[in-house]
Amino acid sequence: MEVIIRPNAERAARLVARLIARAIQAKPNLVLGLATGRTMERVYGELVALHQHTGLDFSHCTTFNLDEYIGLPKASPFSYHEYMRRQLFSRVNLHPAQTHLPDGMAADLDAECAHYEDLIRAAGGIDLQLLGVGSDGHIGFNEPLSALRSRTRQKALTPATLAQNAPYCGGDPDQMPRRAITMGVGTILEARHCLMLATGQSKAEILARAMEGPITAMVTASALQLHPRCQIIVDEAAAVRLQGQNYYRWIFETEPEWAPYQEDPQL
Ligand code: GLP
Repeated sequence: MEVIIRPNAERAARLVARLIARAIQAKPNLVLGLATGRTMERVYGELVALHQHTGLDFSHCTTFNLDEYIGLPKASPFSYHEYMRRQLFSRVNLHPAQTHLPDGMAADLDAECAHYEDLIRAAGGIDLQLLGVGSDGHIGFNEPLSALRSRTRQKALTPATLAQNAPYCGGDPDQMPRRAITMGVGTILEARHCLMLATGQSKAEILARAMEGPITAMVTASALQLHPRCQIIVDEAAAVRLQGQNYYRWIFETEPEWAPYQEDPQL
């Protein structure tokens, strides 16, 4: 695992977008795992800008989102289908047939979960999985005590997650969907490359537990410590509780892998 610290949230998101763009350029038919949440809005804004200004081409890419609420119609303004349409799908040249989210309105939800796993497998697996982290340390909607080998399945959301996400779901935690379909921790760990973005001081404590604490099902982001190729991009505010800050800064400043990005004042 590698942790990279950038001065602010804007530059951290821009670096994430640039890493995604480089992956698409290296493999135009990239299978890209996508995430939702407020943190990702900047990343999608940057990807749209790269598409518009540099011709970044999504036309051969396939995407799989991490999760979707159960019981919200796709067209609901609060669904992740609609979030993705607004933030990215309607603004770049992705083929609608090649974008995938779990269907939270499926008549048979367990069958839908199994089908989603089949679709990922049939696409050849996920090349690059984008991730955020919830305030309780979840990745996707893998809430505390999710099995670290779990697959795509239904999951009950915690009261903390309902409270965290309510502002983006109409404001009232009591009106929010209580359950979601989410890729499992095991599904996520099978992606060939994981790329997490966490910004803001509200994520500092949970980020330190996830990255530098013990691997535990109580903080499912900690399972990323097991992943052979995982990059965590954070801003200074989210990094304040990390013990290894100086080492992480030194990695960005000195490792040849980061040379293309070191001198760029935008990153
Ligand atoms: C939701 C998503 C997670 C995401 C989290 C972070 O809970 N299911 O995948 O990481 O939001 O949200 P934010 O970026 O708004 O802090």
